[in-house]
Amino acid sequence: MSELAERAAKLDGCDPLQGRRDLFDLDDGVIYLDGNSLGALPRHVPARVADVLTRQWGRMRIRSWTEEGWWEAPERIGERIAPLIGAAPGHVVVGDSTSVNVFRAVVSALRMTPGRSEILFDATTFPTDGYIAASAARMTGATVRAVDPAEVAKSLTDDTAVVLLNHVDYRSGRLHDMGALTEAVHNAGARVVWDLSHSAGALPVDITGHNVDFAVGCTYKYLNGGPGAPAFFAVRPDLLPQLDQPLGGWCSHREPFAMDTEYVAAEGIAKARAGTPEIVSLLTLDAALDVWDGVDLHQLREKSLALTGFFEECVKELAPAARSVTPEIRGSQVSLSCVDAERVMGELVNRGVVGDHRPPDLLRFGFTPLYTRFADALRAAEILGEILA
Ligand SMILES: Cc1ncc(COP(=O)(O)O)c(C=O)c1O
Repeated sequence: MSELAERAAKLDGCDPLQGRRDLFDLDDGVIYLDGNSLGALPRHVPARVADVLTRQWGRMRIRSWTEEGWWEAPERIGERIAPLIGAAPGHVVVGDSTSVNVFRAVVSALRMTPGRSEILFDATTFPTDGYIAASAARMTGATVRAVDPAEVAKSLTDDTAVVLLNHVDYRSGRLHDMGALTEAVHNAGARVVWDLSHSAGALPVDITGHNVDFAVGCTYKYLNGGPGAPAFFAVRPDLLPQLDQPLGGWCSHREPFAMDTEYVAAEGIAKARAGTPEIVSLLTLDAALDVWDGVDLHQLREKSLALTGFFEECVKELAPAARSVTPEIRGSQVSLSCVDAERVMGELVNRGVVGDHRPPDLLRFGFTPLYTRFADALRAAEILGEILA
């Protein structure tokens, strides 16, 4: 057994999260390193979704809105996500996509900063955030400017209303300093919106401790909510009373069933809802979140850093033609640069190692600490080495 194989066996043997892998429907023929795009299916979810479809919808039909708690599902599931992102109870709601929630947060922030009209957004962002920021600017008469996260502090002006940032860079895996950036934005009198798509479920996040104004993020990545699972929206408690979100609909009305022609927003976090919740997707996510019960997020972080560091060591030794571009201060992914990256990823997938390719030259590997093993990291590097050789 090689030294790396011995270490992998030892690390897997003493991994306090090792039992969690059995909760997922994974096959040993595939090394799945794409949980940062679409998390794996927890084994118990299909039966729960079957119950939603056949009993709750099929037999109970409309009674389920009240008797099965469908109506409150967006807030109830938000309550389950709150501890994963360090949000205050009662200040997270789930529904719509991340893109829609970015829009909701950016426009809400603009409405809280009258007299200011500039939106700054992370120049390295996943594109949807930039597109939405630009659209929000066109609609509101604001201006929009892309800035590198490293340049945010010196780019803030008296006119900056809102800054839209990513906690983890989706390409490089870099983790940004939420505390320092939030403080800089606040010192300039602006509001901050954090996109947590690549940190929720990947590491402990503390939006309350960092005084974050708004946070949004996907639930189909590290939270394993399934394809197209609805996104979350969180607001700082002291901002909730003044929250004036742009997509208020009948489900965020104070008395939805009064069918009033005049809009009056609900008082609690329900005011961040819009229309009829996507019940099947929401309840799929609800079931999937069970895998987090009892997980110590600090153990999760320790394993994630150990896994990604171990993978880099394996790559250095076994696949030296690829080079990690992921800084040490990172989320839970490793991105490697190599020539012909798209073809290399295609070959990796053919050989059972599933990551993804980001143009032009990146191989992206997500290390989901609940189900990725050190042995998987080693085997993926071995296969990559064989391909590159
Ligand atoms: C940072 C970030 N924001 C948003 C999204 C996607 O948004 P939506 O859920 O609207 O497709 C992604 C998808 O990968 C992402 O990485």
